[in-house]
Amino acid sequence: MITLAIESSCDETSIAVVRNGREVLSNRISSQIELHKKFGGVVPEVASRKHIETIDYILDDALNEANITLNNIDNIAVTYGPGLVGALLVGLSYGKALAYALDKPLIGVNHIEGHINANFIEYPDLEPPFICLIVSGGHSHLVYIKDYGQYEILGRTRDDAAGEAFDKIARAMKLGYPGGPIIDKLAMKGNKYAIDFPRAYLEEESFDFSFSGLKSAVLNYLHNQKQKNLDIVVEDVAASFQQSVIEVLVNKTIRAAKLKNSNIIAIAGGVAANEGLRNLMKEKANKEGIELKYPSKILCTDNAAMIGCAGYYDYINGRTSDLDLNAVPNLKLGDK
Ligand code: KG4
Ligand code: ZN
Repeated sequence: MITLAIESSCDETSIAVVRNGREVLSNRISSQIELHKKFGGVVPEVASRKHIETIDYILDDALNEANITLNNIDNIAVTYGPGLVGALLVGLSYGKALAYALDKPLIGVNHIEGHINANFIEYPDLEPPFICLIVSGGHSHLVYIKDYGQYEILGRTRDDAAGEAFDKIARAMKLGYPGGPIIDKLAMKGNKYAIDFPRAYLEEESFDFSFSGLKSAVLNYLHNQKQKNLDIVVEDVAASFQQSVIEVLVNKTIRAAKLKNSNIIAIAGGVAANEGLRNLMKEKANKEGIELKYPSKILCTDNAAMIGCAGYYDYINGRTSDLDLNAVPNLKLGDK
């Protein structure tokens, strides 16, 4: 089965061709990062316009690389939420038009499910159940994956998403956008115990996250150092901030795996590209005899291949969409 997959929920225009859910024949990604850099974050209207300009070319590239034509496609998977409404509408309208013209099934895909499914592409033999930590620019979820498309949400962020915290701290330190990869690199050169930033574990039993207190603590620290004319060692701030984020993410994820008796943990989303998170999670998981899975970096950040994989499992489980499907900017995990 050949799935054509489309992703345009934020600042990447991406189209992929995926065979039988897990074999990626092409995964073309056009990132708008350079365009948004000067604004320090994604400008929704600019993003929508750029998706429109780019999407035709990305489709041609994806078909050429996969060495197929539109006639070889069996179904069309497209992200319909969550994300920026204008950006989502570009990919969704494009997908609907293709589905109508080719008379093929349309599958509306939840972007967060896509991130989870990136692990199925990376590991062809990976099967549910397992614990998955999804950490991206817009979402932080701790989920028990019971089966394909079946989730028990154990925890989520109560305020900022993990990636959002990285981006905001980088912005406050004038490091550039997106902040995650920049802080990740700086952190490697810094002392992670230099500054004692808070760890937000919340209630003892809780699997929820909160990053706004940490964000305020870092902003206060920067402000105080400046007022007292003291040096700010950027590498140390980056390393100490990152350590606060990842310690909480790792400890809660390990606790969730133990609770569910799961010997597999997967991580997903843009922040799953973080070296510090990967290393600490691996170390702690190994100690507990738990196996850690994570997608290669290109599959961690937004891409259409993961949408194709999620769409495939939706399709074989009988979940397709009508052509009146609308974009749902605040779509939740588990919503269909
Ligand atoms: O999954 P993604 O591409 O988009 C969303 O669905 O939000 O995630 C983007 C987020 C950004 O906040 C970015 O700063 C963060 O992922 N990110 C990282 C790293 N690479 C990307 N955060 C920490 N370390 C990284 N290496
Ligand atoms: Zn994403």
